[in-house]
Amino acid sequence: MDRIRIVGGNTLSGTIPVSGAKNAALPLMIASMLTSETLTLDNVPRLADVEQLIGILGNHGVDHSVNGRREGQDTHYGRTINFRAESIVDTTAPYELVSKMRASFWVIGPLLARMGEARVSLPGGCAIGTRPVDIFIDGLNALGADIEIESGYAVARTRKGLTGNRYVFPKVSVGATHVLMMAAALARGDTVLENAAREPEIVNLAECLNAMGARISGAGTSTIQIEGVTSLGGATHTVLPDRIETGTYAMAVAMTGGDVTLEGARADLLESALEVLERTGTEITPLNSGIRVRRNGGGIAPVDIETQPFPGFPTDLQAQFMGLMTRAKGRSTIRETIFENRFMHVQELARLGARISLNGQTAIVEGVEKLKGAQVMATDLRASVSLVIAGLAAEGETVVNRVYHLDRGFERLEAKLQACGAEIERLSS
Ligand code: UD1
Repeated sequence: MDRIRIVGGNTLSGTIPVSGAKNAALPLMIASMLTSETLTLDNVPRLADVEQLIGILGNHGVDHSVNGRREGQDTHYGRTINFRAESIVDTTAPYELVSKMRASFWVIGPLLARMGEARVSLPGGCAIGTRPVDIFIDGLNALGADIEIESGYAVARTRKGLTGNRYVFPKVSVGATHVLMMAAALARGDTVLENAAREPEIVNLAECLNAMGARISGAGTSTIQIEGVTSLGGATHTVLPDRIETGTYAMAVAMTGGDVTLEGARADLLESALEVLERTGTEITPLNSGIRVRRNGGGIAPVDIETQPFPGFPTDLQAQFMGLMTRAKGRSTIRETIFENRFMHVQELARLGARISLNGQTAIVEGVEKLKGAQVMATDLRASVSLVIAGLAAEGETVVNRVYHLDRGFERLEAKLQACGAEIERLSS
């Protein structure tokens, strides 16, 4: 299994190209199942989760082809992939495939909308809490689907196709908003989704669905209106830049000091995190082409945060921010409100010398003068990158084990950091 070796202490300076967002690419790829025509996605990141989903979609009959790079296109600018689901050949998403990635459960929406039936294994994914699917089931029920749980599978049917309805999400859920939006796009009549997630990835999906012929308005607010249509067609759509990757590298620069331009990043996608970073003493300058992040001299000021659905501070940056706070000049508190078990990085950060105590869903971080390199273990996607951030500032050598978590969500992480002066390498075994 690959490991990442870091020798800490270097500041970061240069340019890091920001990739397409994993969390936007996955639902967009799934949306290709809604039409028999070709959906072309630009700026698709090269990630293990994308490859995994290509395999899952292939099982349902979605063919894909990868375009060559276009003239004048930057080398980093992701891949262009054509997805075509001329016919859906299988409405079952088996355990072996779905258990590896939670988002693959989302195929339930397009399968029901297009085929009137779906048999989808209950998901696995990151070990960050129980992550149930009750809201998906409740919401699809509201659109007229009958769903039973049988032998670990959600078995869903519609007698006369899906019918539009008003549905109020009992809790904000990104995945359930994606799925209900996709399902309602092909339902008979109008749907109103209330208390919907407002994440930029929801807006990105709604724009793509509209380009395919859907009639969706209000995405990005908590009320989404969907006028059902009878069929959707092909389209070309660009995956938006990854706001979590952006925030992660911004925190790495805040941690080590230096001056880095995050090329292609969009400040409007992560205002709350950037505002928090400014309060830590980091200079953030939005540019036309990206975001410039600087911290020169001066210490890291402690800041208290609480994770919230968008536009609040994202749970997917919580671990990285904790990494940063381990070196702050004073005490900070970090409250996780989205997932109930998302502090697995605490133990590992402690191996580097961090002083963190847990009180329920709140972590109290006492900043230390220095961290010292050690062997650490990646436990989930975002936790693992918090260890990289800490390692970049730790004295001596840090080795992050179980790097496959990082490969799920960070494209060419070590190359991007190396190019800015970090001493970081992948050890293959
Ligand atoms: C998505 C993101 C993930 C991010 C999360 C929250 C993708 C591929 N993943 O995950 O990176 O951390 O949003 O921003 O986009 N819940 C229920 N019942 C349900 C569905 C969800 O109780 O049926 C709960 C979850 O357990 C969690 C909360 O709702 O506590 C939010 O989860 P949700 O927004 O659905 O997260 P995901 O879509 O899985």
